[in-house]
Parts: sequence; structure tokens; C-alpha cells
Amino acid sequence: MKLGQQFLSGEQIRARAKELAAEIDKAYAGSAQPLVCVCVLRGAAIFYCDVIKHLKSEIRCEFVSVRSYDGMKACEPVLIQDTAIQKGAHVLVIEDIVDTGATAALMKKRFLAQGAASVKMCSMLGRKDGVADWIAYVIDTDKFFVGYGLDYNQKMRNIDGIYELIP
Ligand code: IMP
Ligand code: MG
Repeated sequence: MKLGQQFLSGEQIRARAKELAAEIDKAYAGSAQPLVCVCVLRGAAIFYCDVIKHLKSEIRCEFVSVRSYDGMKACEPVLIQDTAIQKGAHVLVIEDIVDTGATAALMKKRFLAQGAASVKMCSMLGRKDGVADWIAYVIDTDKFFVGYGLDYNQKMRNIDGIYELIP
């Protein structure tokens, strides 16, 4: 395995996260209750902080942990650490990358079953447009990426930027 070309720099991602935070604020303006921002660990940890620190809305922070990849191979998402959402809450789930959308669907189902008033998704990367309400960068490729939270077998999450991983 080796690192390929840089796909996005940390600066680019942080700038986009700030833009998305402004859009998210607009969407929830006038909401009577705090917005529950759910971080999908571990991949979304860095991007989550980049987004929430720019939100002007009142928020609550929640964390769930999901495992959906084994090496470079996708598997059925499994909830490892869950969280309880207050009935009637508006929920914003923040993900690292939406690939098949299975993790996003699992989150949506879970929080709606807990009585959330709405569940929206924000993702750093999306392999298809329209799979989340806000996507920082849509990627039209099957390439595997690491860095900025994204891992290969738990490694390389701490790289300040996103790189292609070459098998
Ligand atoms: P989904 O459930 O198929 O949408 O998969 C989403 C999850 O797959 C993400 O949260 C990542 O953990 C993982 N994933 C998908 N593509 C990549 C990648 O290129 N690099 C690292 N993880 C990935
Ligand atoms: Mg992940």
C-alpha cells in the first residue's frame, strides 16, 4: 500500500466545512430547539469539529460509532456505540464519506425510531450526489481514500488532507 496523489488539502476541507456550516445554520434558522449534531466515529471526527465550530445555531453534541469497512472492502454497517436522541429533536448526522448509503440509512432509521422530528445528513465526501443533504465534495470515482479521518485498517486517519491509497 502506498499513498497516491493528494486529492484535497486540509485547508480546502476546512474552507468547505465553514461554507456548509453557514448553509446548515440557514436551514435550521428559527428552530425552537437545539440541533443535535451526531458524529459518526471514528472517520468523521475531524470534519465534525470543522463544521460544528462554525455553527451559530444552538447545538448538542452526540457520538455514535459504526464499523462498515474491513480494509478496503465494504461490509454491512454495525453499530458499535449508540446514543439516545430526545423525542422531537432535529438531528444532523455528520459522516466522513457516504459510499453505498447503508450507514446513513441505518442512522436515519435509528433516530426516526427514537422519535426525531427530522434527520438530515452532512458528509465530507459522497460517491454520488443526492445521497446526503450536504456534501462537501462529491467524488465520481471508486478510488479508496485515506486521511482527514478516513482510515485503512485504522491507520492514516491523522494525515492533514485526503489522499488516494494505491494497493
Ligand atoms: P456506506 O455505509 O457504504 O455509505 O459506507 C460509509 C463508510 O464506508 C464510511 O463511513 C467509511 O468508514 C467507509 N468508506 C467508504 N469509502 C471509503 C474510503 O475511500 N476510505 C475510507 N473509508 C471509506
Ligand atoms: Mg466511517
